Amino acid sequence: MEKLIVKGGTRLEGTIPISGSKNAVLPIAVAAAILGDGVSVLHNVPDLTDVNTLRAVLEGLGATTKLKNSTLYIEPINHLEYEAPYDLVRKMRASIYVLGPLVAKLGKAKVSFPGGCAIGPRPIDLHIRGLEHLGAEVTVQRGYIYAQAERLTGTEMYLMGQYGPSVGATANIMMAATLAEGTTVIRGAAREPHVSDLAHFLNAMGADIEGIGTSVLTIHGVKHLHGTEHTVISDDIEAGTFMVAGAITKGDVYVQGITEQQLPAVSEKLVEAGVELDWDANGVRVTTPREIRGIDITTAPFPGFPTDMQAQIMGLLCLAAGTSVISENVHTDRFIHAAELNRMGADIMLDGSKAVINGVRNLSGAPVMASDLRAGAVLVAAGMAAAGETVVSRVYHIDRGYESIEQKLNDIGANITRVND
Ligand code: UD1
Repeated sequence: MEKLIVKGGTRLEGTIPISGSKNAVLPIAVAAAILGDGVSVLHNVPDLTDVNTLRAVLEGLGATTKLKNSTLYIEPINHLEYEAPYDLVRKMRASIYVLGPLVAKLGKAKVSFPGGCAIGPRPIDLHIRGLEHLGAEVTVQRGYIYAQAERLTGTEMYLMGQYGPSVGATANIMMAATLAEGTTVIRGAAREPHVSDLAHFLNAMGADIEGIGTSVLTIHGVKHLHGTEHTVISDDIEAGTFMVAGAITKGDVYVQGITEQQLPAVSEKLVEAGVELDWDANGVRVTTPREIRGIDITTAPFPGFPTDMQAQIMGLLCLAAGTSVISENVHTDRFIHAAELNRMGADIMLDGSKAVINGVRNLSGAPVMASDLRAGAVLVAAGMAAAGETVVSRVYHIDRGYESIEQKLNDIGANITRVND
């Protein structure tokens, strides 16, 4: 297994480019492969493990895909399979995205129930409820979800769960509804930029979706969708991670290819903590002329502070003057990284879905373990700011969602080496 050896005490300085959004590419590729009747060409696609896992799922269903120089070609599936087996689905929860499109296109689907993961139990009741609203009969048997409907029928639904809107359920039901008979209205829809990017892609394929970017999506069903060409939006979470990396190393970093509208809450909170952000049309310059201040953060669906940035900002707040409180309201037990940061000298106490972070003056390098994608990223960032060497194991988590992380960071002053055990 690979590890990253991070030499501490480095300062980041220079321009770091942002890749395409992982969370946008995944549903877009599903829509292209299952719903489209022609070839789709997607630009700005990051070469990530998650993208390649999804390609394997889509090829298992009969699609042909090719990823070259950040362009993903997806050939229409001629003999579409309706079954997504456990062996493929278990590797990535986002494989659940094939459920809605398969029922819409074939009238039936058999998709393995996705497993839990290191950020707590993640139910799929809203995906199932949404499909039932559209007239599908859904059952769960022996670890598989079976869904069936001769043709889905448009309807009005409220798709909000106990933790608020669901990105995955909104995407799944929106995709399914594009080919339903009549009009579907989804109230309580997720508004994340990657959900909007999917909606724009579907419209380019011939779908008729209104209300993009709002919590009420109206989808007028059409008979066919065609292939199209699309440039995927940039990855807000990758950008936010590198903004934190710039701040934690007291660097001078230009994060290129991101807009403030994609990251409103992260920008606001970084500024509150004392980071200076200078936005222009192409990106943001991040500098940290003053000491970082302790602040309080509550994670929430977009436009709130994203749970996917919670670990990284916690790393920064470990070195703040004063105390910070982070309330995790989306994935309530997503705190495994806190123990790893404490191994590096941080002072974090957990109390249910809250983390209390007492700022310390220094972190020190230690052997640590990435427990999920974002938890891995914060350990790399903290390692750059720490004294001595940090060895981050389970790097495969980081590779799921960060394209060439050590290369991008080394290009602007980090000292990170990838080694094999
Ligand atoms: C997506 C992102 C993930 C991010 C999350 C929240 C992708 C591939 N992944 O995950 O990185 O952390 O959004 O921004 O885009 N829930 C239910 N029932 C459901 C579905 C979800 O109760 O049927 C709950 C979840 O447990 C969670 C909350 O709703 O507490 C939000 O989850 P959701 O937005 O669905 O997350 P994902 O789409 O899985």
